[in-house]
Order: sequence, then structure tokens, then C-alpha cells
Amino acid sequence: MSELRQRPTATSKSSNGPDKESRSRQHSSNETDQDHGISLLDIIRVIVTLIIACCGLSYYMTSSESVLWGYRPWYTRWPVVKQWVQGPVTLTPSQLSLYNGTDATLPLYVAVNGTIFDVSANRMIYGPGGSYNFFAGRDATRAFVTGCFKEDLTSDMRGVEIMFMPVEDVENESITSAQKKIRREKELRAAKARVEGAVKRWTEFFSNHKKYFEAGRVVEDGGVVGEPWPLCEGAQKQRPKRSAMLEKS
Ligand code: HEM
Repeated sequence: MSELRQRPTATSKSSNGPDKESRSRQHSSNETDQDHGISLLDIIRVIVTLIIACCGLSYYMTSSESVLWGYRPWYTRWPVVKQWVQGPVTLTPSQLSLYNGTDATLPLYVAVNGTIFDVSANRMIYGPGGSYNFFAGRDATRAFVTGCFKEDLTSDMRGVEIMFMPVEDVENESITSAQKKIRREKELRAAKARVEGAVKRWTEFFSNHKKYFEAGRVVEDGGVVGEPWPLCEGAQKQRPKRSAMLEKS
């Protein structure tokens, strides 16, 4: 028998009509959502994939050194955490001298302008036999400025600014002594600023270095006394000459 389509009657409508219709409408709209919508899970999947790809690329680009493009927060470095827990060290110059690498059980310390830095991560340079071992176990700020690694291994900075002051090699300059005095004052101020700049640069070099970290402070056991430290030969030779300066201007 052929099937006959029947118009829904009032009874049939009331029994399953609106419910069924709305259910089927809801069903078809759900299907459309599933077909075209982006779920939260999809977004998470994309983000995770991007993070993994980025880490992988970083690992490849940094020659297997880092998955975070070289970023390494201090709390992931064990010696820094240990130092942080123990608190900063305070050492006198004679105590500091023990940290020069001769005792392998102690860390390697370098001090600049009273601040001690742990440079144990670079024993090749600062350890025994290293090219800059003379900086280890002491505050040799003066040598950091002058470059005189034999004579200036001291924190005594008195008179070091002279290295940036011109040598007065012109006898009959046509300016008054008052003008000379004012010029000298100005040059002295500039020279002191250069010394401060050099010290600041080295301090920043050690504090911003990714392998070194600040360990504490040097406490002077008497401070710098006596005759001012003489200017080393190397620094003396680097001094500008007044005659050359006048020629230029
Ligand atoms: C005021 C002068 C200078 C100071 C204070 C100084 C200081 C230093 C310091 C502290 C380091 C170690 C850096 C680190 O911890 O990674 C270093 C490395 C180095 N410096 Fe100098 N330096 C000076 C001048 C020079 C000059 C003139 C030369 C070249 C002739 C030079 C060549 C080197 C080399 C090759 C290294 C790498 C050392 C190594 O890998 O063994 N430095 N310098």
C-alpha cells in the first residue's frame, strides 16, 4: 500500500508537534555549530602547538642551550638561589683573598667598587692559570679603570682621574692663570666623571652578566690610608697632551 502524506491534525500537533519541531530545529542548529564553530578546546590546541613550536625553534636557534630564547630567570639558577637563601656575604679584603680559586671548594669572587660578584661560572678566565685570575679574590677597581694589571690591583682610587687630565706641555699659553684654573676645574670634573663611568660600566658588566651574580660587599679593614697611589706608567702614557689638544681646536 502506498504511503499517504497526512496533514498533521490538531491532535497529532498537540501530542508531538511543537516539541518535536523545536527539538529537530535545535538538533540541526547544534549540527551547524559543530560544523563551523571554534571551540575553546581548539583554541587551547592552537596555543599549545604554537608554544611547543616556539620552544623548539628557540632550542634549535640557540644550539640546544635554551627553549626560552636565552631567558633564564635567577630562581632557576641553583647557586643564585643558594646565595639568596644564605644572604649577602660581607668580607674584609683579607677574607676575600681566600676566594681566588686556590681553594676549589670555595666560590670564585671578584669585587668592583666594594661589590662582590660570584664568577665561579668562569673558572677558565678567573681560576688559577686563567687570563684574568689576578682579579679574583680582591677588589681591584683601580686596575679596571687604568688597565694596569700588575701595579694597580687595589681599590685605592685616589688620584686615578689624573689619567684623563691633559699633560701641560705648553709653556707660554696666552691665557691668564685664573682662566687656567677654571679650565683645570672643568677638566677635573670631566675626568672624575669618566672614572665613575668606567667603574659603573664594569659594575654593570658583572651584575648584568648571565652567568655571574652579586654575592655581597667588601668591608674595609682600615680603609685606604697613607700616600696616594701613584699613577701607573700605562695610564700616564695614555694621558692626552695640551699641545695636541690646542692644535686640534
Ligand atoms: C682597561 C683594560 C681592560 C680591562 C679592565 C679588561 C678586563 C677584562 C675582563 C674582566 C675580562 C673577563 C670578562 C668575562 O668575565 O667574561 C676580559 C676578557 C678579555 N679581555 Fe680584557 N680587559 C682590558 C683590556 C683588554 C685588552 C687591551 C685586550 C686585548 C689585547 C683584552 C683582551 C681580552 C680577552 C681576549 C678576553 C677574553 C679572555 C678569555 O676568554 O680568556 N682586554 N677583560
